[in-house]
Amino acid sequence: MTARIIDGKAVARKLRAEYRVRVQQLVSAHGVQPGLAVVLVGDNAASQVYVRNKVRACEETGIRSELITLPADAPESRLLAEIDRLNADPGTHGVLVQLPLPPHIAMRRVLERISVDKDVDGFHLYNVGGLMTGTTVFPPCTPFGVQKLLEHEKVQIAGRNVVVVGASNIVGKPTAMMLMQRDATVAICHKLTRDLAQFTLLADILVVAAGVPNLIVPQMVRTGAVVIDVGINRLPDGRITGDVDFAGVAAKASLISPVPGGVGPMTVTMLLFNTIRSAERRVGIVDVSDGLGVPA
Ligand code: GUN
Repeated sequence: MTARIIDGKAVARKLRAEYRVRVQQLVSAHGVQPGLAVVLVGDNAASQVYVRNKVRACEETGIRSELITLPADAPESRLLAEIDRLNADPGTHGVLVQLPLPPHIAMRRVLERISVDKDVDGFHLYNVGGLMTGTTVFPPCTPFGVQKLLEHEKVQIAGRNVVVVGASNIVGKPTAMMLMQRDATVAICHKLTRDLAQFTLLADILVVAAGVPNLIVPQMVRTGAVVIDVGINRLPDGRITGDVDFAGVAAKASLISPVPGGVGPMTVTMLLFNTIRSAERRVGIVDVSDGLGVPA
């Protein structure tokens, strides 16, 4: 078998074109332009790149963006005051604090300060809890991107065996909850899992987010499986690679996402979507067509 390769860039482009129209409708019908505030503390080089990408994607979609940069030694109280201001600002529909934060700042206190209604990263405990009950309004962006890719490729989720490799709060655990909500049978593996292959071989859908290059080799994958690689690893020669031996596994899977160009472009796309959904909620539009959120 030779896998079909998921073109995450193309899916992201198509969705973003739809989202641009949604923004225009919000502006023309309600006079509301969605607004996202991104807060960056310190000068982490990778964070600066991520933040720049988010701001640029907003511009391209018609979303107003505000970038707030604070020095690495800014006191926590300064950051909390900034969040309070953004929470109260009616023109701001999404508030995102880029992680990681400097060590003197308590991440959980910061994330819990963001208004639940503006938590477009989906990291507030209230939204995390909503993953458990299927009522989260803002799912975290990378797992949401994985779900959207599977939907776009018309992969059946209900009744399938899903194995998630990686148990992080940002990717592994929420991805597992979201796919279980869609009636998959889900196992989560992590770095202490004994005999990883014993689990991965059960997977109809294998989602890998471990941060280990070439962790998944063909012998660990069932013929015809769907393989979603969420890993982003930089090799010594500077190239970016995922967690899956792409060439080997592509010869055995039925569908596979590459790195780069798979899940990556979807993460920011879902941030745009969450921001638009937040603005829609503000004007009374509650979209539950994708099975998320509480009906009005
Ligand atoms: N740092 C790495 N990934 C993320 C993310 O998805 N959101 C935020 N806020 N920070 C990050």
